[in-house]
Amino acid sequence: MLVLGIESSCDETAAALVQDGSGVLSNVVASQVKTHRGFGGVVPELASREHLRNIGYVVRQALADAGTEGRDIDGIAVTQGPGLIGSLLVGLSFAKAMAFSLKKPLVPVNHIEGHIYSAFIENPEIEYPLLALVVSGGHTSLIYSPASGRYQSIGRTRDDAAGEALDKIAKFLGLGYPGGPVIDRLSKNGDAGRFAFSIPKISDGSLDFSFSGFKTAALRHIQLRGIKPRHPGSRISNTILDLVASYQQVIIDTLVRQTHKAASRLQPRSILLVGGVACNSLLRKTFKRVFEEECRNGENSPSVRVYYPSLLLTTDNAAMIAAAGTPKLCRPAPPDLDLNASADLRLC
Ligand code: KG4
Ligand code: ZN
Repeated sequence: MLVLGIESSCDETAAALVQDGSGVLSNVVASQVKTHRGFGGVVPELASREHLRNIGYVVRQALADAGTEGRDIDGIAVTQGPGLIGSLLVGLSFAKAMAFSLKKPLVPVNHIEGHIYSAFIENPEIEYPLLALVVSGGHTSLIYSPASGRYQSIGRTRDDAAGEALDKIAKFLGLGYPGGPVIDRLSKNGDAGRFAFSIPKISDGSLDFSFSGFKTAALRHIQLRGIKPRHPGSRISNTILDLVASYQQVIIDTLVRQTHKAASRLQPRSILLVGGVACNSLLRKTFKRVFEEECRNGENSPSVRVYYPSLLLTTDNAAMIAAAGTPKLCRPAPPDLDLNASADLRLC
């Protein structure tokens, strides 16, 4: 089954051709980083405009890279939500028009389910039940899946997403946009033990996350020490390096601790680390160490395995949307041309 995936939920316009749910024939991503960099964050109106400008080219390029044409595909999978409504509408309207004109089936995909499927593309052997930590600029959620297509929400952020927390402090310190990859890189040269951050206790025993307190604590450290944002091109001080390393460390500790609690309760066979923040090198290393090595030493369930996608499939892309849409297209239905985008679409 050859599926065209289309993704436009935030600031990446993406299209991909995927064969049978895992053979990526093409994967085109037009990033808007340059457009939003000067603002230190995504400007929704500019994002919609860029999607409009790029969508036709991106889809044509994805078909060309795969050496195929619209009439050869078996169906279209498109992100319905969650995301920025204006951005979502561009991809969804384009997909509906294509499905109508080519007389092809069209299925909506939840962006979070797309991220979960991103791990399956290179690891079709992943076993259920699985526990997924979906961690990005817009989401931080723990999802339990006992079987394909069935999801239970185990925990979610009560305020900022982890990526948003990284991006905001990087912006405040003048380190660049998006902040997550910059903090990942800079933290390698910082002392993560220098600045103290206390981890909030969520007293109802839930597996939710909270990151906004870390942001406030980081701003307090900045004020107390009179740390000035970096001027473009100037050297980054050791104090800033130590601060971002400590800040990244407490965010990672929080992600690992809640996932560990969930894994102990639910005993999954597989743990998936997905979403843009899953690119983080220390987070990847820590997940492998905590969940696979400790497990081999008899600390956790007998044989849990950790999976994360390669970097290109970890940040927003359309291959993951096509992969998530493939099982849905196996039950063919006429294209639903009344399909609408939903900014806060829930997975479960
Ligand atoms: O999944 P994604 O591309 O878009 C959303 O669905 O939000 O994730 C983007 C987020 C941004 O917050 C970015 O700073 C973060 O992923 N990110 C990283 C790294 N690479 C991207 N965060 C930490 N370390 C990285 N290496
Ligand atoms: Zn995403």
